[in-house]
Amino acid sequence: MDAGSTLVNDLHSQMTLSPSQADRIPGELLKRIDEAIERYPMSSQSASLPILHLWQNHFGFIDNSAIEWIAAKLGLQPIDILELVSFYPWFRQQAAGQVVIRVCHTLSCAMAGSEQIHETFCKAANVPYHPHQNDTLPTSADGKFSIEFVECLASCGTAPVCLIQEDLLENVAPENIPDILNHYSN
Ligand code: FES
Repeated sequence: MDAGSTLVNDLHSQMTLSPSQADRIPGELLKRIDEAIERYPMSSQSASLPILHLWQNHFGFIDNSAIEWIAAKLGLQPIDILELVSFYPWFRQQAAGQVVIRVCHTLSCAMAGSEQIHETFCKAANVPYHPHQNDTLPTSADGKFSIEFVECLASCGTAPVCLIQEDLLENVAPENIPDILNHYSN
């Protein structure tokens, strides 16, 4: 069995264990997906990334049923979509907290103290602290916050930098973190 078949079989086995996003696609999301596809009349495959963004924005993450559904919608194989989801760190295959805090840990931010920022965020938000990234997405027990390291957010001159939801926060200082969390708690 090749790697692609193994992955697809794995998708099928996991699908039986989790509630299916594909069974509860709201009409508005469906409409926006169709609009995304219409923007690429020459190649529906080009709509893959826009659709994945729409999907994650709505559901918070991309489950296995989504990978199957999007592939079928675009006339692709599930492995084509899974490869994108796996490649881009932005996409998640597991549920996240209501507010996702991404701390840049690339060179400029690392030199400006991003590890301390990460640790301070974790302590203040009651999120388990792991100094090194792993496959889990640490989330507070109340489901409010998830915190993870990410690669360069293209704002190296204002390091250390974080992305919270869609907001880029520059020159983040540890002493500002309680106020930042307070802002996103409401
Ligand atoms: S290194 Fe952090 S924004 Fe570039």
